[in-house]
Amino acid sequence: MRAVLPDGALTASVPWQGLLPQPVRPPSDFSPTSDFSPIAGRYDATRDVPPGLLDAAYDRMIAAGLLPAAGTILDAGCGTGQMSLPLAARGYAIEGFDISGPMVALAQAKCRPGWPARYRQADVRALPLPDGAVDAVVVSKLFQHVSGWQDACRELLRVLKPGGALIHLADRGAFGNPVRRYFAAMAEGMGFVDRFPGMQRRADLVAFARSTGAAVAALDLTDLRWAKDVRYGDAWDQIRDRLFAEFWYLPDSAYAQILADTADWIEALPDGRDTVARMTPWLDADIFRR
Ligand SMILES: C[S@@+](CC[C@H](N)C(=O)[O-])C[C@H]1O[C@@H](n2cnc3c(N)ncnc32)[C@H](O)[C@@H]1O
Repeated sequence: MRAVLPDGALTASVPWQGLLPQPVRPPSDFSPTSDFSPIAGRYDATRDVPPGLLDAAYDRMIAAGLLPAAGTILDAGCGTGQMSLPLAARGYAIEGFDISGPMVALAQAKCRPGWPARYRQADVRALPLPDGAVDAVVVSKLFQHVSGWQDACRELLRVLKPGGALIHLADRGAFGNPVRRYFAAMAEGMGFVDRFPGMQRRADLVAFARSTGAAVAALDLTDLRWAKDVRYGDAWDQIRDRLFAEFWYLPDSAYAQILADTADWIEALPDGRDTVARMTPWLDADIFRR
């Protein structure tokens, strides 16, 4: 019998946290941006937002006048195209850009014949588009990976038509599975608090967008939830395989120690690696009008 734990039922405890050395800053040699090429082939199997829920979100944005019913949409840091392919299917012209060649190749390969979607390799901090070229921007799970993320945000606003919307989408809670949270808590216990090279907190984006003069529009999507079971053994394997950029910048020695401690913690659970957590991620959007 496998244990199914409700989302959030198990928070990581770090019993030996007080025994660790005093917190230290993460290494200062951050790569400027997290290129997902090394994990491109495993991206879709480990991050998935049901396209039907995205469609429901886009329907709401169109109804609220936040997304035009037609036009050109930029997908910034498009990855494998998860956010914009449902829009391409509706006939929007998509300009997708990602720093990773393998990621854009996967996105392009998913397009059906006739879809007006073009996925290209480029850094979002310097896009090959003229001012005001697109009617809307969708961006998801990008800014935390880009140092100088404010430059990226300015660049997205530059290519957006006046009055257009920058739609910052997130699937909240999707990756906060207990194993990942435990690993993250261990990392924090060792002083690795700000683990991303770019934006650390969503509130930073809202404050920055406001400082550029962009208006913030509210759209509640929190009812757009789905269920997802996460087996602890699989979640540990994914961290072992370094699938999460959040942890890419930890020193190898710290990574190995935390990984081993996390394995011990899992093994000590009654169902060990077969423990299953029931996650209920939800969609969320911050929308900025230029
Ligand atoms: C977590 S993935 C998100 C992909 C997609 N937006 C989604 O929601 O599935 C982050 C993506 O940002 C890309 N990326 C990181 N830094 C970038 C940059 N400076 N310019 C363009 N893409 C970048 C990575 O290669 C990766 O594909």
